[in-house]
Amino acid sequence: MVARGRNKLLISLALGAAAMASASAFADDPATTAFPIVTLTEDAQPIPRSAGLPYAPRNLADRIVLTAGADTAREMAVAFRTDTAQATAEAEIALSVDGPTLGEKAKRVTGKSMPVDSSYGRALYHQVRFEGLTPDTVYNYRVKGAAGWSEWYQFRTAAAEDKPFRFLYLGDIQNGILTYASRVIRQAFHANGDIRLVVHAGDLVGQRDDLDHDDEWGEWNQAGGYNYAIVPQLPATGNHEYVDTLKPDGSESRRLGPYFPAQFALPKNGVKPVEATTYYVDYQGVRFIILDGTAAIDLGSMQAQTDWLDKTLASSKANWNVVLFHQPVFTCARPNDTPEIKAAWKPVFEKRKVDLVLQGHDHCYSRLTAEAGREASAKARADGTIQGPVYLVSVTGSKMYRLNDRTPWQPDKVAEATELYQIVDVEPKTIRFRTFTASGKLYDGFDLTRTDQGNRLSELAEPTLATRRCSGEIGPDGGACVASGK
Ligand SMILES: [Fe+2]
Repeated sequence: MVARGRNKLLISLALGAAAMASASAFADDPATTAFPIVTLTEDAQPIPRSAGLPYAPRNLADRIVLTAGADTAREMAVAFRTDTAQATAEAEIALSVDGPTLGEKAKRVTGKSMPVDSSYGRALYHQVRFEGLTPDTVYNYRVKGAAGWSEWYQFRTAAAEDKPFRFLYLGDIQNGILTYASRVIRQAFHANGDIRLVVHAGDLVGQRDDLDHDDEWGEWNQAGGYNYAIVPQLPATGNHEYVDTLKPDGSESRRLGPYFPAQFALPKNGVKPVEATTYYVDYQGVRFIILDGTAAIDLGSMQAQTDWLDKTLASSKANWNVVLFHQPVFTCARPNDTPEIKAAWKPVFEKRKVDLVLQGHDHCYSRLTAEAGREASAKARADGTIQGPVYLVSVTGSKMYRLNDRTPWQPDKVAEATELYQIVDVEPKTIRFRTFTASGKLYDGFDLTRTDQGNRLSELAEPTLATRRCSGEIGPDGGACVASGK
């Protein structure tokens, strides 16, 4: 069974080819469209497993992931995994002290547990919520396996008021999760102190089919390591958090895979029927709204999500509103923009003056600052005209797609065959957005400044890398692409 997991990328490619041949209804994946896949080379395959069961659940907790509560100043939550010998969800939380006495005044908190079956056997995922916390305060927590407690993990609650902070935005991790994406995530944390949130724009792993994907979640957790346990994660679902299914009549459908709802103890403030994958979080002057593009496009929840988006933006008292989802309004790889999302959500973003729209799915980089294309955008800035929402697409993992033929004029900056991370510094009147390559070079960025009339966008005065594009031909098997530029 584990060996089946190792072959999943090759199998996915085969499925993609089959889907192309049968004109699958799932035309949102470039494997089903005409333009080539750039990577998925041998070098991007999962790390070979050592003998035994390297990601098997154990008698100590692993896959420990912190998530924000709806009220981030007073609530956090943690999800973690054990073997079945630890039948109950147990954690301890304590105010931080500067000596080794955290256990003395720790408070026991219990939660809920749920099984997830894989080739490693049955595991239990546990979720515990820490409520009634004090704002802007450092806490420590630990979680329990049958053999004992984990180490203490430390986090700070959000301040109750607006206060500058930094967050990390990651596009699709999905492929080469441990092989390649890990260095991007680690570089982001290594080079940028005090990251307070991480937002993921979906496709955290590859899965998508009914094969065994436990190894991918093991890699995802290993790639982020303890950073996931001490910094709250805000994940959006991508199409790869869903698995394809067949209805009794033979038509295709999708259902949410088992790992996402087990791995993330998310706020329960989303919209029916997608409460498991939609939510919002207020953090020190920013409202983050997380939508589920896959369920909106394929599973009939578009209107419900659109209404909820509008209502959640209307009720926001935050300085800034950031929306996070997977399938981009403006695509950098696909032949067309995402029509359903563009028709339903873009007008809401504009009406409610959303500041940032963070997306993934296209396995390239794109920044777009105007509705009507580059000329209008550049003119708007030259005239000092007020800026509309800024649309971003980015990618963390190793799968890369070719840029489409609109990228020379539609976005303001693009990248091809480049792994990136984004550091966003938020202040009450300014957002500083910086995009870095895997090795930490500044690739793109801008400042948004709030005025009485709205946002003004400033390009960076400091030098950034020249636009990176794939040089050379792409082989019929989607051979490796070396990007031009340093
Ligand atoms: Fe995707």
